[in-house]
Amino acid sequence: MAHQSSMTAKSILTNIVCVFIVAPIVTALIVWGAWVLRPDPPPQTSSLDAMPSHTADIRPAPQTPVSGRTVYMASCARCHGPSGDGKGTEQLDRPARSFLAGGFSFGNTPEAVRRVVQHGIAGTPMPGFARTLNAQQVQAVTKYVIGLAPPAPPASDDAELVVQNRPLVLRGMLPARGALEGDQPRGLLIGGIDGLTLAYDVDEVRFRAARQGGFAARTDWENRGGTPLQPLGRVIHWAAPRSVFSIDGRSVPAEFLGTTIRDGVAAIRMQIPGVRIKEHAAITSVGELPGYVRTLVFDGDASAITMMLPSQGVPRYLGRGESSEWWRDGGDLIGIRGAAEVEAAGVRLPASGTLDIIVLPAADIDQAIRAGIPGLESAT
Ligand code: HEC
Repeated sequence: MAHQSSMTAKSILTNIVCVFIVAPIVTALIVWGAWVLRPDPPPQTSSLDAMPSHTADIRPAPQTPVSGRTVYMASCARCHGPSGDGKGTEQLDRPARSFLAGGFSFGNTPEAVRRVVQHGIAGTPMPGFARTLNAQQVQAVTKYVIGLAPPAPPASDDAELVVQNRPLVLRGMLPARGALEGDQPRGLLIGGIDGLTLAYDVDEVRFRAARQGGFAARTDWENRGGTPLQPLGRVIHWAAPRSVFSIDGRSVPAEFLGTTIRDGVAAIRMQIPGVRIKEHAAITSVGELPGYVRTLVFDGDASAITMMLPSQGVPRYLGRGESSEWWRDGGDLIGIRGAAEVEAAGVRLPASGTLDIIVLPAADIDQAIRAGIPGLESAT
């Protein structure tokens, strides 16, 4: 009996300890934990796959005016230097730009700089911030870094064409890319306001290369087609020259129809038997990986047509990600969104609608894994 009552007393005591001491502590911990671990507001982004945000600490409360300098110090100074002189603390294999020196090589309109900040520069350490900074922060820091540069110098050289607020389309001779290739007399350069320039052979409308940076120069604008055009941007991606489209294993050259510029976007128009295609391009990013995307819009039934990937070698198929099929081509990752079927070294086109060719040049593999691209193994 005595034994039993002592047990009861013990369990009453335990209950009291639980209800009045442990429970409040646990509740307080839960409330505190929920507050500390509260989710960030969803980042404003156009990219594909979800990524954790690293900048919760600098995301301001709504309504607070965003300071470009604050964003700069938190997100950019480690590479570009606190003063903008390009001397940050981060060890980089190529130097970050000094903003004090002026002259943005990737375009100096606010729009061009904004896109670089959002999507980064492919093949360089400059990351895209579309996931980690919201629209106001991107705008504020864009204004801040443009403000660090001295007033724009007068147009440097009459021979250089600069894309300002409207895309530019240029036709003429494209210089050979290497010893094995001749000049291409019928070349086409399309420069977008985001600093991306795509070069094509007009014959068969074959993609040659994508560049980011300046547009083009030519020494004799009068004498059309005399000296080659000189694309100025840095090559971020190129493809081996080969036929792009085929039906039943027979290659079908695309016929060039012309170019259009509408709503600030330049497009190239072509046709293959039974279908017309309109293609435009823009810089983009997937997770933290900068790259660019070409979008093909079909008018007619394209379902019999196979399209080769714009690759340098034979691309290796990785698998299907969230919304795209992915391949690896050397250091580049190529994604196709909207294909009807995956084939040997390419894809079967859809019967109608659109298809995106996403290229992430010289992609960092760990970033690619984090962005949800399948079939990759971490380098570490
Ligand atoms: C991890 C290092 C790193 C960080 C962080 C970084 N940058 Fe960069 N950034 C670079 C490098 C490197 C380049 C030069 C790329 C090249 O041309 O080789 C560059 C280039 C640029 C350019 C292009 C300049 C031109 O010539 O047109 C802009 C604009 C820019 N950065 C803005 C920013 C802003 C704004 C931030 C912060 C939101 C930022 N960067 C954060 C490394 C970085």
